Amino acid sequence: MMVSNPKGVQACFLIWRRVTLAVSLIIAGAMHGRAQDVAAGRHLAETWCAGCHMVAPDATRSPNDAIPSFAAIAQMPSTTMSSLNAFLQSPHPPMPDLKLSRTEISDISAYILSLRPR
Ligand code: HEC
Repeated sequence: MMVSNPKGVQACFLIWRRVTLAVSLIIAGAMHGRAQDVAAGRHLAETWCAGCHMVAPDATRSPNDAIPSFAAIAQMPSTTMSSLNAFLQSPHPPMPDLKLSRTEISDISAYILSLRPR
């Protein structure tokens, strides 16, 4: 009695299909959301930060050699989403107090972290 219950097999297959569909929707949604954040963050960074920091990963000339590039910041082991969020929430001279919103801060942080080599 190996293939005793074809209905059961079919139901099982349908449930599996639903699970895989749900999982792929979640992944697609997460990737979509993230891609938007990173793109928005890059735009914000180019607007507000590029005067001092090397923002783009392929930039070759730093506006100021004493200021770390975003790629270099991304590579520091201490850099995390929460360290960036905390850093960007409080002004620190000579960085101007840009009064970034929470969304802007998390977008910029996502952009900086996207520069981390994997
Ligand atoms: C007026 C120049 C200037 C601007 C504009 C500026 N920064 Fe900075 N930033 C600096 C300097 C200088 C440092 C190093 C300060 C220090 O080490 O205390 C720094 C440090 C940082 C660090 C910390 C690096 C570390 O060592 O942990 C981060 C993150 C950062 N900046 C992000 C940003 C972001 C994001 C923006 C745009 C929203 C920005 N900066 C705009 C000058 C600037």
